[in-house]
Amino acid sequence: ISMREITSSDVPEEVTEKEPSASQGPETTGEKPLETAPSMPNLEAVRAAYAQRAVSAAPPLTKAERQSISEELLKSWEAYEERGDLLRSRSNLPAAEVRAPFLEALAAHQVVVVAGETGSGKTTQCPNFILEAASATGRGGDVSIICTQPRRIAAVGVATRVAEERGETVGGHVGYAVRLDSRSTRYTRLLFCTTGVLLNRLNASPDLEGVTHIVLDEVHERSLHTDFLLTILRELLYRRPDLKLVLMSATMQQSIFSDYFGGLVDGDEPRVPVINVCGRTYPVTVRYEGQAQAASKGSPIGPVRAETVDVEDAEFEAEVKRQYGRGAKEIRISPAVQSSADLRQIANLCAAILTGKYEPDEDGQEERGGAGGAILVFLPGHAEIENCISQLKGQRGIGDRAWILPLHGSMSVQQQQRVFKRPPAGQRKIIVSTNIAETSITIDDVTHVIDSCHVKETRFSPQSSTSVFSTVWVSQAAAKQRAGRAGRTRPGVCWRLCRQDFMEKELPKHTLCEMQRTPLEELVLQLRLLELGDHPGDFLRRAPEPPALEAVERAIRALVAIGALENDSQLRLTPLGFHLAHMPVDARIGKMLVYGSLCKCLAPILTIAACLSQRSPFIRNFNRTKEELQVQERRNVWGELHSDQLAAAKAYDKYHEQRRQGRENAWAVCDRFGLSSSTLDDVAQLRQQFLRHLAETGFADAEAGEDGGDQVNVHQSNLSLVRCVMCAGLFPNVAQVQRQSNARGTYHIFVSRQRERCAPHPSSLNFRQGNEFAANHGWLLFHDKVKTSQVYLHDTTLIGTSVARRGLLLLASI
Ligand code: CDP
Ligand code: MG
Repeated sequence: ISMREITSSDVPEEVTEKEPSASQGPETTGEKPLETAPSMPNLEAVRAAYAQRAVSAAPPLTKAERQSISEELLKSWEAYEERGDLLRSRSNLPAAEVRAPFLEALAAHQVVVVAGETGSGKTTQCPNFILEAASATGRGGDVSIICTQPRRIAAVGVATRVAEERGETVGGHVGYAVRLDSRSTRYTRLLFCTTGVLLNRLNASPDLEGVTHIVLDEVHERSLHTDFLLTILRELLYRRPDLKLVLMSATMQQSIFSDYFGGLVDGDEPRVPVINVCGRTYPVTVRYEGQAQAASKGSPIGPVRAETVDVEDAEFEAEVKRQYGRGAKEIRISPAVQSSADLRQIANLCAAILTGKYEPDEDGQEERGGAGGAILVFLPGHAEIENCISQLKGQRGIGDRAWILPLHGSMSVQQQQRVFKRPPAGQRKIIVSTNIAETSITIDDVTHVIDSCHVKETRFSPQSSTSVFSTVWVSQAAAKQRAGRAGRTRPGVCWRLCRQDFMEKELPKHTLCEMQRTPLEELVLQLRLLELGDHPGDFLRRAPEPPALEAVERAIRALVAIGALENDSQLRLTPLGFHLAHMPVDARIGKMLVYGSLCKCLAPILTIAACLSQRSPFIRNFNRTKEELQVQERRNVWGELHSDQLAAAKAYDKYHEQRRQGRENAWAVCDRFGLSSSTLDDVAQLRQQFLRHLAETGFADAEAGEDGGDQVNVHQSNLSLVRCVMCAGLFPNVAQVQRQSNARGTYHIFVSRQRERCAPHPSSLNFRQGNEFAANHGWLLFHDKVKTSQVYLHDTTLIGTSVARRGLLLLASI
């Protein structure tokens, strides 16, 4: 990963060198200073050292190096052309047909949009076309292409695939760089990376020196980072007229992008050219609920539901409407969890498909016949996927005949890769997935899609500082995209669990872009770090679809409150803010790490920060089966900590202690306490990454072991100190315990700073804590406040008043 290089020697040396000599003062008074006297710390000098940090990116290639790579690439191109075997499979892709027009458009324009169905070969082919074209003319060494992917799995998978297609191994001419993993060198000419990695690169080198082409992939997703990059790159193109930009999009909304860059081309020349890759997808028959009933009597589809929109909580809906001011049609709220009737229906459908009842024929019409293709089920979230899988496993007619796999974003890359495998003989693959399989992961052998038509979406409300995480109906564009997944290699069938008229009349056409529905702290920090615009609001106003000014203002206030930005009109980064902007974590968690080091209890704080910025190592337990209840019982050994964060830190320690004895021991711990070993391994890697960042600025010693050395861990077992540090880091995320009474007696409730009633989420250890216990503590720290059916607090820790007070003192003083 290309991070801004900061050496730990920066600060001390500059401080000692530039500071007025410590001997000056005493000398005037005639006293002789001690020769070894350390220089007095000087705040201004430390600040200056921070501000002057040299920006260092990897050194550009020399002319001779470029020459030799060009020769290498020319040779490998010629060898490749001769072989031709791989070319044939590539030339069958629709993208192969646009090779020439794409390269011509790119030669004539600075910005080109490529639009095409998922699977048409945009990602694997277009960036490689650029490299090949340059290689063929002996100028391969002169290009440097960066192609961004919104997700890690896509970046790794595509780089590997492209290298393979070129007959190379990944990490050479084609490489990748993602958060915890990188295979690339200075000589890599085509780099697939995540959007976050490109942002880091921009920080090290604002003009992206040496880079000749940027390819932003999946721009239609409108993720926070791609929209942010679009805004930055539009400005950069003026300064770098030689830099080429390619935007790749599924066939949705591509006019937004060509319009956004349209103004760049002068004269009569039309705006940015759009190259359409004609998807060679097969017809997919779409069946809706209700239709199915009419079409096939006695089909396994249940009766049509009378009410298609279930509003769980009318009051909640009213509030969401008020906060977002969007048309009613876009914010219909459905139950938080897919109804069990839906899951039964899905299981019935799968069973019927397994009997060969719904095999599509060549025209895409349904027909009884042999089975072969995989079934892809779209559900909104993790919990629904687990429920669905247990329903499928218990379904008559499925049993051993299916190979059932989950697919969601919180699985490791290796686990996710299983979906590409062929099922065992005699079994048919059923993949139960979130919207990750909608555009980012393509599974070729899918012939049947069952779409719940729901998606989990987070919308952040700047007024109440609450994320509303709810299951909402998908947009029409997303539903179309999902259906298309069934027709990749032959005609397919798609079932939608809603009525056709409802979909066409009630559902939004497109999804709301992320920039307009998430907190903006991270973006504002990045903006200040990259020194873009005088005011974050001014810069973000130039985004394709700008966020509300109110949301920007709220983020600024939050950053000023934690001391990351100067409280003046210039909103400069403070030294702390500078440090936080470099940490690949939420600013508050970054600050917690700094406190952990200063208060010398870094080890548990490293674990806690890693878990908070990733996910809990505790596998979500529904307490339904006997095993789950037993696991819950065992987890109670940590119950008296009354803290999800501290419990996770203890679990991590236990895991690692056993891990040193061998893999089997570690797995036994995982089974015993319901822990995810892959999450714990990721946590270990993240800890290392955090430690490196802390070490770069002198807050820890990365060489002194995986916890940063004894110096910063003197008090690591002082749990009340650890709670203080958490309080200082997580503030203002704290709810108060209040006494209430009614006819039946007194009880306690949690009230947030916004005076709303809230409760620990059922996944929290504190969900089951007695009232009395809460009363003794007084305060509940939390990481996230999410509104579903009510306001839930995620990852909570109970703290007493004195800890809270000392935590705030810490916050106020540093
Ligand atoms: O970007 P787009 O969705 O248009 O297509 P792509 O990702 O370039 O995929 C083109 C073809 O390559 C598809 O048929 C994929 O199945 C295949 N592919 C693959 O086999 N392995 C990968 N890691 C990526 C793509
Ligand atoms: Mg793609």
